[in-house]
Amino acid sequence: MPTIAGPSLSSYKPRVAAVTDESAIPRKKRKLRSNSAAVNLPSENLLITTPKKWKSKSKSHRPNSVSNSRISEKEDINKTLTNPVNLGEENLSNWNPRDDEQMRAVKEALHVSKAPSTIVCRDDEQTQVLEFAKGCIDQRKAGSLYICGCPGTGKSLSMEKVVQQVSDWSHQEGLPQVDTLSVNCTSLSKTTDIFSKILGVNEPGKKANGFSSPLQHLQFLFSQKPESSSSRMMLIIADEMDNLITKDRGVLHDLFMLTTLPFSRCILIGVANAIDLAHRFLPKLKSLNCKPLVITFRAYSKDQILRILQERLMVFPYVAFQSKALELCARKVAAASGDMRKALCVCRSALEILETEINGSTGQELHGPTSDDPVVRMDHMATALSKTFKSPVVETIQSLPQHQQIIVCSAAKAFRGNKKDSTVGELNKLYLEICKSWMISPAGITEFSNMCTVLNDQGILKLGQARGDEIKRVSLRVDESDITYALQGIRFFRNCLM
Ligand SMILES: Nc1ncnc2c1ncn2[C@@H]1O[C@H](COP(=O)(O)OP(=O)(O)O)[C@@H](O)[C@H]1O
Ligand SMILES: [Mg+2]
Repeated sequence: MPTIAGPSLSSYKPRVAAVTDESAIPRKKRKLRSNSAAVNLPSENLLITTPKKWKSKSKSHRPNSVSNSRISEKEDINKTLTNPVNLGEENLSNWNPRDDEQMRAVKEALHVSKAPSTIVCRDDEQTQVLEFAKGCIDQRKAGSLYICGCPGTGKSLSMEKVVQQVSDWSHQEGLPQVDTLSVNCTSLSKTTDIFSKILGVNEPGKKANGFSSPLQHLQFLFSQKPESSSSRMMLIIADEMDNLITKDRGVLHDLFMLTTLPFSRCILIGVANAIDLAHRFLPKLKSLNCKPLVITFRAYSKDQILRILQERLMVFPYVAFQSKALELCARKVAAASGDMRKALCVCRSALEILETEINGSTGQELHGPTSDDPVVRMDHMATALSKTFKSPVVETIQSLPQHQQIIVCSAAKAFRGNKKDSTVGELNKLYLEICKSWMISPAGITEFSNMCTVLNDQGILKLGQARGDEIKRVSLRVDESDITYALQGIRFFRNCLM
């Protein structure tokens, strides 16, 4: 390991050092580094830089949940474009991007609102949900299931399918019909409206006489033996359940507790985007003896995104996308969030870029497909990706001096899970640990807290007021995913953030 000169503690411009993966450094950043005194140490690919300027920018950025990328695939793109072999498969197609009908059909197939003919990559999750519902229906027993996963991981789509499967199955088995209530909780004007909706299915048209609220009415209903033994089971899908969170989480608890009442017929499936919601409300439910089954929809991987895109495009007798372009999209979206909605948007945007290119070009007129008809290539996709993921937060993080990036990285680690804030002193400890494990000379505490102030001004950290620097409260104002995305091109940070 080479030794790295420590920062000059007397100045406000510390010498900074970090292990970098040069090939992945965004262009702008390379420029920034070439302006500074950079020394490459070949053995370990270390870079020592002395930034020219290091001052607080008053520009603040609103946190953005979606991240950006600078596309670092230029070489790859050029290789593909100049290599005719890679275009072989496209040459076989009769794709004609000038054909409005074809263009419209492909765009439609990639629209988020278009339900795919088959839902791939979610078989296990769907089977688990289906088995759970079947079990409840078979035994005429209430139950609850909690589904969580980041946005765009196919939760709502899978639930639609499961509702259909449950209905088909109970029909096939000759079981009494199951009442179904699918509620998107974002559409409720107040959280307790969920109870009126459930009551509406159970007691249609009846007035809630004598009950102070629909919830109380439901609690009463599910505590009494039903008049008829053939009362129907009820499948409730509460999608976007995050919207039911109240300060005391009372509505969520009351909702799940309905399934524990002695004559409850509710099969409740709550679907939430917040991954940590389970940790926030399940312990209390468990203490009340309600233990919903939990199923997590994990973010889609690169291969899954690629497969879903291919599946959606398979219906066409032509190839509109270069396979490398689809792969690029899948790789970038998987690295950012694994959100399928994003992947579809990027592909549509890439198609539009191709369309604009064609419309702008002359020469090839409307004569049907030709062998050199353009398909969506990697350069189209790269442009679409940077358009979609453009985020000032990511750009800011990418252009920070390296020690500030290490602080941002420490904060991302510090505020994982439930921890929302800490002190500058505690954050400094983490920063020192990272510096130590990578043999980087750390900045002193005064410089550290000055850097935190700079990051506060940039809108990345939030610093509280206190007499002493070290006891100031500090929290993160940007998404961890933005940090990961911004710094993923640099091996050192990739390792730090693992
Ligand atoms: N496995 C999949 N196969 C095909 N399309 C999918 C798949 N998963 C997600 N999608 C597409 O992504 C969109 C977003 O999925 P959705 O189920 O609404 O995500 P979530 O509810 O998890 O936010 C869907 O409308 C669908 O078009
Ligand atoms: Mg959804």
